[in-house]
Amino acid sequence: MTDEISREALHDILRGVAALTGDAIVADLARLVGKGVRADISVAFNPKQIASKRWLVDTLAEILPRPDGPVWVLGAWHGVLGAMLLADTRLSIPQVVSLDIDPDCAPVAETLNHRHVASGRFRAVTADMMALDFAGPDGVRPGLVINTSCEHLADVPAWLAGLPAGLPLLLQSNDYVREPDHRSCVPTLAAFETQAGLSELWFAGALPARNYTRFMLIGRR
Ligand SMILES: C[S@@+](CC[C@H](N)C(=O)[O-])C[C@H]1O[C@@H](n2cnc3c(N)ncnc32)[C@H](O)[C@@H]1O
Repeated sequence: MTDEISREALHDILRGVAALTGDAIVADLARLVGKGVRADISVAFNPKQIASKRWLVDTLAEILPRPDGPVWVLGAWHGVLGAMLLADTRLSIPQVVSLDIDPDCAPVAETLNHRHVASGRFRAVTADMMALDFAGPDGVRPGLVINTSCEHLADVPAWLAGLPAGLPLLLQSNDYVREPDHRSCVPTLAAFETQAGLSELWFAGALPARNYTRFMLIGRR
């Protein structure tokens, strides 16, 4: 068997694809791979993950293109969604705050989004979303809170109960019960609507993938 592709070769390929397409996120990913990054970045950038984030960004552009304040992304992992939100010219987002409980995520997210860190439009935070004070030290209330990791929480209604009433929310979950880290999967879109109990519902939809279906809600807590 011939050798597997090296990090240096993958770095070169990504730089070539960035030059070919002119896509700034690919250039940022190439830079990240060149610096060295943990292997699950490949999962965060896999086609299903990107398709679900593409669906999110396209829907947000229709439903809430100009949130009234910073966008907090919870369970944000390596900051891929933040990069996509800040790259989309249909959206007007003053700042993305990318929050994850895993302390290894923030440095990766800030490296991927280094251009936006430099301009003050991106910051990564290590915290438990179950114990958040959205007022924060700067006292700026979010214009939108996004959680695409609802399936990872033990108690989604308890998390929602801790948020300010009326807060704009975008939530994703799925029915992928075979994944051991998934603790709050829902079997249907209707079950997700019941679990979330939003006071206003602006969008509800389902995106089928090969092994599971992803659900998305946009509305107010
Ligand atoms: C596998 S990832 C992302 C999956 C998600 N479906 C998506 O589309 O991005 C789930 C992330 O949620 C984070 N997470 C889980 N519980 C959390 C909590 N209580 N507070 C903050 N982040 C949390 C994990 O550390 C992990 O990075």
